[in-house]
Amino acid sequence: MALSTQHLLGIKDLKPEDIQLILSTAQQFKEVLQRPVKKVPSLRDVTIVNLFFENSTRTRMSFELAERRLSADTLNFTASASSVAKGETLLDTVNNILSMKVDMVVMRHSASGAPHFLAKHIPAAIVNAGDGINEHPTQALLDAFSMQERTGKLEGLKVAIIGDIMHSRVALSNIYLLGKMGAEVMIAGPPTLIPKYITEALDVRVTYNVKEALQWCDVANVLRIQLERQNQPLFSSLREYNLAYGISRRLLESLDKEIVIMHPGPINRGVELDSDVADGPHSIILHQVENGVAVRMAVLYLLANREN
Ligand code: NCD
Repeated sequence: MALSTQHLLGIKDLKPEDIQLILSTAQQFKEVLQRPVKKVPSLRDVTIVNLFFENSTRTRMSFELAERRLSADTLNFTASASSVAKGETLLDTVNNILSMKVDMVVMRHSASGAPHFLAKHIPAAIVNAGDGINEHPTQALLDAFSMQERTGKLEGLKVAIIGDIMHSRVALSNIYLLGKMGAEVMIAGPPTLIPKYITEALDVRVTYNVKEALQWCDVANVLRIQLERQNQPLFSSLREYNLAYGISRRLLESLDKEIVIMHPGPINRGVELDSDVADGPHSIILHQVENGVAVRMAVLYLLANREN
C-alpha cells in the first residue's frame, strides 16, 4: 500500500485509506520504539531538512527524533538565525537548501498556505508541521492515533474540540480527520472564537456551553488561546475565559460519565485547563507526545518510500 499523495500538506487532501495506512504504520513503529534498540535503517541515505519559521518545542523535537530513529540524515533550520533575516525569499532559501541534495522538507510557517506554495515550486516531498491558522496534519494524526489507542475506535467516537477554534490549525486538521474517519465532532468555546461558517462548511455541532460539550463527548481535545494570532481582544480576560470555558476537576466531576482529556500543548495552565485536570487520571496528554514520534516516523517513511 502507498499513500495517494506526494506531500503531507493537510488532512484535507488525504483519503480515509491514507489515514488508515498512516495509523497502522505508526502502530508498527510504536512497537519498534518499545524495544531496547529503537533505531531502524528505513531512511538511510535520505536527507531531511526541518525548516522552522515559527517557534516549536514538541513538534520540532518529535520530527527530529522520528528522523533519527529512521536513520535519516537531518539538517535543522531556524528562521531567526538564517539569511531570511537578511531578506531572502522562502523559495530562494529552500532552493539553496535543496541544491545540497536534500530529499524531504518538514516545514512550520506562520503564513497559512506556505507549504502549499512551496509544493508547487520544488521537487522535494513536503511535510506541513503547521501553517499559520490553516492545518497541522501530523498533530491531527497523532491525536487520532491516541484516541484510537485509548478508546479502541474512531468510527462513531464523539469528540469535543474546545477553545480557540478560529485560530487553531489543530482544530481544523482534527475536524477534517475525524469527519473522514466517521467520528462525530462538537465545537465549543466563546462565540467570538468560533468562525460563523464552520457549521455549514464542515459537518460539526456547535455549542457555546463547555459543560454541554463535555457531557456529550467521549473525548475532549482542549486547545490553547492563540493570543499571538489575535490582533484585537476577542474575550474579556484570561481569568474570565477560565471561569466560563476552562476545564476544572470540579466540572469533570459534575458530569455523569468519564471522558478522556487531550491537549496538543503548550498548555496554559489555569486558563483552558486546570493543573489537576492536565495531570489527572483522565489526561492522555503525555501519551499524545509519545505517540507523535511513531506517527511522524510513519509519515516520513511512507512519503519517502512512495518516491522510490
Ligand atoms: C500546536 C501548534 O503549534 O499549532 N502545538 C503543537 O504543535 N503541539 C498548538 C498550539 O500552539 O497551541
